[in-house]
Amino acid sequence: MNKLASFCQRIDTCSKSKNSKIVLAIDPLPRTDLLDFARMLINLLEEYICAIKLNFHLILPLSALQLSEINDLAHSYGLQSIADIKLNDIPNTNEIVIECLLKMGFDAVIVNPFIGKEALLSAVNRAHQNNGGIIALVYMSHIGAKEGFGRRVVISDKNKDKINNNTTLMYKVFVEYARACKVDGIVVGATQVDVLKEISRNKQISIYSPGFGTQGGDIQEAAKNGTDYFIIGRSIVSSNDPLNFIKEIRDRLSFF
Ligand code: XMP
Repeated sequence: MNKLASFCQRIDTCSKSKNSKIVLAIDPLPRTDLLDFARMLINLLEEYICAIKLNFHLILPLSALQLSEINDLAHSYGLQSIADIKLNDIPNTNEIVIECLLKMGFDAVIVNPFIGKEALLSAVNRAHQNNGGIIALVYMSHIGAKEGFGRRVVISDKNKDKINNNTTLMYKVFVEYARACKVDGIVVGATQVDVLKEISRNKQISIYSPGFGTQGGDIQEAAKNGTDYFIIGRSIVSSNDPLNFIKEIRDRLSFF
């Protein structure tokens, strides 16, 4: 994989070569052999995925060296690796966290745009200087996401939407930040079909969707409505037969 290409180009290249838009969320339940388990899943499923996504399930218990090992293994198969920490701090802290994660071999970091446009831009700049990507949370997948991402908020004059004078919905502000800061992807939960539809009417950034299976999102519905990359965790990781399960999902997606 050409490390000089951008994160968007790298994941697109891998997705085409593997003929897969699946991002494997390696989120095991606590166990003593986390590193071996992660390695086993990557070795088993690499042909059917374009990226892995690691969350605190692995990022907290494993060492930096062990995380680098996982990322090196993913790269040896041409896969990308995403750190899902929903980063949400002051710019200086965010920049240091992003550099550390990229040094460990992660290719992109998920950031919460609640930090504001300037802070998001500083995260994007720092990631791009280090050849990494930033994926912004726009609307989460879980029940209750509406309380934050779907909340009606007051905005300044220049951002007001046509229907509701000086208010809009939180996620619309996040989409605007994401576009202005030129992030490399946005996360919209697969359970938010109307939001997916609305954003993809004017698609400018790749959409990553989690929330399938366990959280109730439907793969075909999401694919029809604009999801580009499908983040799937527990239903694969906890399956008795992850290989056949992932093959089935990839086959279902091949129609889109
Ligand atoms: P499951 O097991 O539900 O795993 O297939 C999904 C993975 O994605 C994470 N997740 C999210 N990450 N925005 C994110 O950035 C979201 O809306 C969201 N919903 C789920 C989840 O923590 C797990 O790693």
